[in-house]
Amino acid sequence: MNDASPDAPRTTRFKTRIFSGIQPSGGLTLGNYLGALKRFVEKQNEGIEAIYCLVDLHAITVWQEPAKLRQQTREAAAGFIAAGIDPERSILFNQSQVSAHAELAWVFNCVARVGWMNRMTQFKDKAGKDKEAASLGLYAYPALMAADILAYHATHVPVGEDQRQHLELTRDIAIKFNHDYGTDFFPVTEPLIEGVATRVMSLRDGTKKMSKSDPSDMSRINLTDNADTIAQKFRKAKTDPEPLPQAIAALEARPEAKNLVNIYAALAGTDPQTVLDEFAGQGFGAFKPKLAELAVEVLAPISAEMGRLMQDPAQIDAILGRGADRAKAIAQPILDRCFEIVGMVRSRRG
Ligand code: AMP
Ligand code: TRP
Repeated sequence: MNDASPDAPRTTRFKTRIFSGIQPSGGLTLGNYLGALKRFVEKQNEGIEAIYCLVDLHAITVWQEPAKLRQQTREAAAGFIAAGIDPERSILFNQSQVSAHAELAWVFNCVARVGWMNRMTQFKDKAGKDKEAASLGLYAYPALMAADILAYHATHVPVGEDQRQHLELTRDIAIKFNHDYGTDFFPVTEPLIEGVATRVMSLRDGTKKMSKSDPSDMSRINLTDNADTIAQKFRKAKTDPEPLPQAIAALEARPEAKNLVNIYAALAGTDPQTVLDEFAGQGFGAFKPKLAELAVEVLAPISAEMGRLMQDPAQIDAILGRGADRAKAIAQPILDRCFEIVGMVRSRRG
């Protein structure tokens, strides 16, 4: 396929650039680490230009205690750096320090249709029974997410499985904007949803995703948990009485068992079949301590480094500030051009 063919990827014209975000609405979990952070580091280390954002504007779509939000933003930044994001090579910043996100989101609020928003399953889940009481921000959130990505003309977005629908919407917004204004200004972004840990499940319920907002702390591993807590959470993780099977297919009807095998594979950097080859025939009494040991081996250095970085919050703030300056240098010209395309008079000097 050459670039001139009508089937050529619609992102060809754009330089490969990654953007992704994580909400500082709680501590980082093993789900965030395996589904997102670990893969962010891999992409950075492949030499791809990458922009990583702590999306504080997204976080306030549900109530956040101000002091806690600030603390969680710094802690998440420490988590990124401890996991291997190099804030010199990649750009690391918090969303609210670059106003282009909120400004472009407004334009996209006017591109996206109410019917599209009504199909967003995450809104339905998060708003719960009383939709009338949800914030307007929670409803509009996917348009802000599209703005995060498209303000940088990002071409690829690594995320976990739960974000697939929001990335479809981002593509729909780019396509409609380009169509309505007769331009090809915004790239049609590709999601990168790869690996065995795109959906790490709760340790208490293998049908629910592991989440920083689950009321039960026993449902998740936090990056800041110590070795004893990690061992205890895996020991108490819900499972079934059967030993581990030889065939992957036999895990299909056993969501909790499948989840633990996938977590093991992701932590070990291998695949689930290799894990089953090693543990087939063994029960969870034997498997869980091995899993906990592996998790501690991977997470303990990250959590120790986070602790060290958190002792100097001013240094973290300085890193986020520098990252925001670099992010703004990319986003501002794109926003300016977008406003021009839309028909806004742009007459300020400087
Ligand atoms: P959030 O914590 O919702 O801001 O998610 C930040 C990133 O982590 C997104 O790319 C999510 O898809 C990913 N993520 C969150 N929870 C999980 C999970 N349980 N399994 C895999 N990826 C996850
Ligand atoms: N909505 C994402 C989540 O809850 C976080 C996010 C916001 C994001 N903006 C983004 C992820 C842009 C990727 C790209 O997980």
